[in-house]
Amino acid sequence: MSSADTIDWFRNTAPYINTHRGTTVVVGLRAGAVSQDNFINVVHDLALMQSLGMRLVVIHEHAYLNSAPLPQEAMGPMLAEIASERSQIERMFSMGLPNSPLHNAKLRVISGNFVTARPAGVLKGVDHGALGVVRHVDVAGMSHALDGAAICLLSAVAHSPAGDVFAVNALELMQVVARSLAAEKLIVMSEHEGVMTEDGSLIRQLTVDAARNYMAHAADGMDDNIALACKACGDGVPRVHLVSYACDGGLIKELYTHDGAGTLISSDEYEQMVAAQGHDLAGILELVRPLQQEGVLVERTNEQVAADLQHFTVITKDSRVIACAALYPNTADAIGEIACVATHPDYRDSGHGERLIEKLVETARELHLKQVYVRTTQTGHWFRELGFQPVEQTALPSAEQAKSSRDRNSNTLIRAI
Ligand SMILES: CC(C)(COP(=O)(O)OP(=O)(O)OC[C@H]1O[C@@H](n2cnc3c(N)ncnc32)[C@H](O)[C@@H]1OP(=O)(O)O)[C@@H](O)C(=O)NCCC(=O)NCCS
Repeated sequence: MSSADTIDWFRNTAPYINTHRGTTVVVGLRAGAVSQDNFINVVHDLALMQSLGMRLVVIHEHAYLNSAPLPQEAMGPMLAEIASERSQIERMFSMGLPNSPLHNAKLRVISGNFVTARPAGVLKGVDHGALGVVRHVDVAGMSHALDGAAICLLSAVAHSPAGDVFAVNALELMQVVARSLAAEKLIVMSEHEGVMTEDGSLIRQLTVDAARNYMAHAADGMDDNIALACKACGDGVPRVHLVSYACDGGLIKELYTHDGAGTLISSDEYEQMVAAQGHDLAGILELVRPLQQEGVLVERTNEQVAADLQHFTVITKDSRVIACAALYPNTADAIGEIACVATHPDYRDSGHGERLIEKLVETARELHLKQVYVRTTQTGHWFRELGFQPVEQTALPSAEQAKSSRDRNSNTLIRAI
């Protein structure tokens, strides 16, 4: 990558960094994650996410635990294995050799008695021994650790007030911790890339309802991940990401790039059309900058766009701006200019542009404007299909004609409202 590409790439990550900073994220490592070669890269990526301001809770599943009884005598060896795995994770977070991504990171990893459990007890006449059910999460204690910029590391064991120790289902723990901390995200890292279609292609995003349909046909283990995602979303966790622990950079790609690396499952509709807020500025600039450079949109400085932000309406998808348009009302002449209409190339031809125009027309109507107009060099036909009529520039009120200095020999189209 050339240094210009690197700079461009780095700038493009800014909207994601801003979105994720300060959010609480629970990362669930399914069994097998810690022992595979890529795990050191996962640790580096977690360290980077923490450096970029995420509040991280990492939960490792040592071995898959179904709801079968767990004899008390199995607990000793299991605890030793879990402790060894946890120690391995702590050791990796503590490495800071020069030239390694963890150099100077000074990460603090805190594990503790944050979770209490009760025995699963006797079910259908069978004593489930050392198998426990998560009872309570010490939210205040964990928040204190996270506020102190530490990573909380939890194993799938918990204690009871009576002093017993129980093994708990790690998936249940991930769900309860994410819910209790009101986490913005739960990321489940397993051997699977994500949810796949029948012909083997990765599905990038799913609603909970759609995800449920994939549960029955999902690969072994993936059905549990999907079930967990659906439950967590049902508990109010807005986003659950299913990512492979074997994919180098999978976490970074999923969180800080447009394409992602796994499957995002969320309970809400992904797309929202809203008035632009301060945090949308970077996304709008990212969207319109290439079009300005191509001369498709009128050149506006970043400062101009920032100053005009209140005129913008955006469509966002998972907090990312995928389309925008601005309405500049001139109430004195009862006319408004529509400008800066853009849809991200990946999301075109799905009606976003038309929805934005209709929204701006509705806004103009509420402002008692009688007309809206647009100046365009290449999109005249598109606007005509949306009810705009070509007119001479002189048909505009003089105050609007005066704005044409920033114009580029474009066509003017008007729509009555
Ligand atoms: C113009 C633009 C905003 C449309 O966004 P969109 O979200 O794809 O819009 P819609 O989905 O509502 O409309 C897509 C339809 O318009 C058509 N269309 C797109 N650009 C067109 C153009 N320049 N001329 C005529 N039709 C066009 C598409 O082919 C598609 O037609 P179809 O539905 O028959 O397949 C988008 O192409 C874009 O960002 N272009 C670059 C910026 C630009 O030109 N902005 C306008 C200047 S202010």
